[in-house]
Amino acid sequence: MSRTVQRIGVFDSGIGGLTVLKSLMELLPHTNMVYLGDCARLPYGTKSPKTIVHYSLQCSRFLASKDIDLLVVACNTASAHALGALEQELEIPVVGVIEAGARAVIDSGGRRVGVIGTPTTIRSGAYVRIMHEIEPDLEIISQACPLFVPLVEEGWFQDEITELVARRYLSGMIEARIDTLLLGCTHYPLLKGILGNIMGSEVQIIDSAFSIARVVEEIVGTPAKDLTHAEVVYYLSDLSPRFIDIGEVILGHEMKYVYDVDLCV
Ligand code: DGL
Repeated sequence: MSRTVQRIGVFDSGIGGLTVLKSLMELLPHTNMVYLGDCARLPYGTKSPKTIVHYSLQCSRFLASKDIDLLVVACNTASAHALGALEQELEIPVVGVIEAGARAVIDSGGRRVGVIGTPTTIRSGAYVRIMHEIEPDLEIISQACPLFVPLVEEGWFQDEITELVARRYLSGMIEARIDTLLLGCTHYPLLKGILGNIMGSEVQIIDSAFSIARVVEEIVGTPAKDLTHAEVVYYLSDLSPRFIDIGEVILGHEMKYVYDVDLCV
């Protein structure tokens, strides 16, 4: 079903959600986007569900004040714990990343699946629950990878230290001979190169950033022709030059409109 969506709000705890934004911009180049990175309070992935719900409500209220027609919860940790609260709070559609990622795994035909994510996402069991609802016989093993987020925030996408850490986290998945690896965190697509090398070419890697963009594309539908190029505005709860440097590498273009925001007022 498609509806009129002029502006999409996207939030994440930090820089990782830019992987989702990038996929959205590629699929929907004529739709305006407002991105909120709650970098001041990153990481979300080690905090309690209560805190995640509280932060997510603050992020979504801020984005709702920017006149968005649809909210994309790019953060897996927030999607795992706060989706229900956000749906109750907002009067616009809210799309979370967990279901999109889980469905992409099922569609891929994988039978032995590894799920990696933040400790709070993995503890929620959300990915496993949704996949087992659809496909009860699926073999799934999960692994929290808390060190991946700081390594990505540091920009160490292709680094020997990152590779060492990844080898340790993935050893159980290699032993279990998984055929599919689901990247259940916005930051992990930036480590795809290293993760692919470690797992080998027989293991397919499912990137939930791309999967959620496809779901949003279906909701938004095909835009009318001859629309001008869309405007993308960025709000950060902690504006650092580093964010912009790394953000522009991730996006592959300039971040033109970047503003500081205080979410705690
Ligand atoms: N954005 C978070 C997620 O996708 C990871 C970063 C964090 O821990 O805040 O789960």
